[in-house]
Amino acid sequence: MKIEFTLNGHPTSVEAPADISLLHLLRDYIGLTGTKEGCGVGECGACSVLLDGQLVNSCLVLAPQAGGREVVTIEGVRGTDGGPNDLQQNFIDHG
Ligand code: FES
Repeated sequence: MKIEFTLNGHPTSVEAPADISLLHLLRDYIGLTGTKEGCGVGECGACSVLLDGQLVNSCLVLAPQAGGREVVTIEGVRGTDGGPNDLQQNFIDHG
């Protein structure tokens, strides 16, 4: 199915199965690997993204649920100078 949404400020349209998670859509169909898979069951937060401004575990969200909505991943979070912001720099510094 076609899933259309706004990803990091850009209109995005992706053909993907309806039964995959938003996490797998982002990583496997779009290639944004900044969102990580840890537990895969909603306990660790490694897969966190913003969905319409709300922090969600993308491993628990079905990809079609992103349709028509705004998703922000770690790649979409930037400092005012366009470089890494404090949060990203901490991820870089501490793996
Ligand atoms: Fe652990 Fe999603 S991978 S909460």
